[in-house]
Amino acid sequence: MGAVIDLRSDTATRPTDGMRAAIAAADVGDEQCREDPSVTTLQERAAELLGQEAALFLPTATMANQIALKLHSRPGDVLVADRLAHVVIYEYGGAAAHAGLMIEALDGRDGRFTVEQLEAVTIPSTKSADQRATVLAVENTHNSSGGRCWPLAELEAITGAARERGLRTHLDGARLMNAAVATGVPAARIAGLFDTVTLCLSKGLGCPLGALLAGSADAIERAWREKHLFGGAMRQAGVVAAAGVYALDHHIDRLADDHVRARRLAQGWHAGGLPVDLAQVQTNFVQLDVGALGLGRDEALSALRESGVGLSSTIHPTVIRAVTHLDLDDDDIDCAIELAPRALGAGVAA
Ligand SMILES: Cc1ncc(COP(=O)(O)O)c(C=O)c1O
Repeated sequence: MGAVIDLRSDTATRPTDGMRAAIAAADVGDEQCREDPSVTTLQERAAELLGQEAALFLPTATMANQIALKLHSRPGDVLVADRLAHVVIYEYGGAAAHAGLMIEALDGRDGRFTVEQLEAVTIPSTKSADQRATVLAVENTHNSSGGRCWPLAELEAITGAARERGLRTHLDGARLMNAAVATGVPAARIAGLFDTVTLCLSKGLGCPLGALLAGSADAIERAWREKHLFGGAMRQAGVVAAAGVYALDHHIDRLADDHVRARRLAQGWHAGGLPVDLAQVQTNFVQLDVGALGLGRDEALSALRESGVGLSSTIHPTVIRAVTHLDLDDDDIDCAIELAPRALGAGVAA
């Protein structure tokens, strides 16, 4: 795209010089034979970070989620998740296609749902061999609600209630480190509440690709089989895993910078007359409801692109989003604050 300031997604980052040096120096081996030292190091580091016994390196967070769902269910079982969760709306029906799951979608608020909502869909069946809810998926931060976080107490309540009802629990923590940094709660404390957790390396953490699935040693041993089955077992994957280790060392604390920039962007746009809900901005996403300006989504995105600012669409028909990340600096944010209100005609009548 011709945009100068790429706020479409935090997946836009390119490896930094330091990360490229780590990639070049990576010690490698055959990953399928579990002989790649860089992959092993990354998996051990990730397990510790996520408060789990073991972790598995995978090409994408989608594959990590899909493997987790398979581990926790049998075909015909029911997955309980927020209606706008990534596993429900953006994984091409993988829960059904791969795990044979039916979905019980909850109408969450800001990506969160309550113990009462969970209870209402997990009433024990009167038949001995009926379909049943077996897996609960939670997303934190929640993409479609604009990168919002779950409070720890709510996560404790929902995972506790799920466990009492015999459900296995999965955390789609593609952006878990954003949630941990924003709330000040260690990632291990959040992820340790779940049976399995997905962490993505190619979003705010700045890697070219890669994700981790963490869980008990037994679950991850079973996940290895699924990784082969999905065609995700690799060879000298250490060149990518080394980027992951570098990211865990250098790119976690700096997520706070992305959050500060998102807030500044939101405040600047709000002051410039754009329809921003400041309460939505908890991490690195800023959502704009361009319907309030009388604009359609595509019209707004193309006006912004022409002015040199790249935003992207969301699942909500009139809402577009900006996402801050490590390839953007304060000057980029200043420019976007100036350019976007003009491009969208905000405050023209005033
Ligand atoms: C919450 C969430 N989960 C999972 C994914 C999937 O990530 P990947 O593109 O690595 O498959 C995304 C990607 O945007 C996401 O936002």
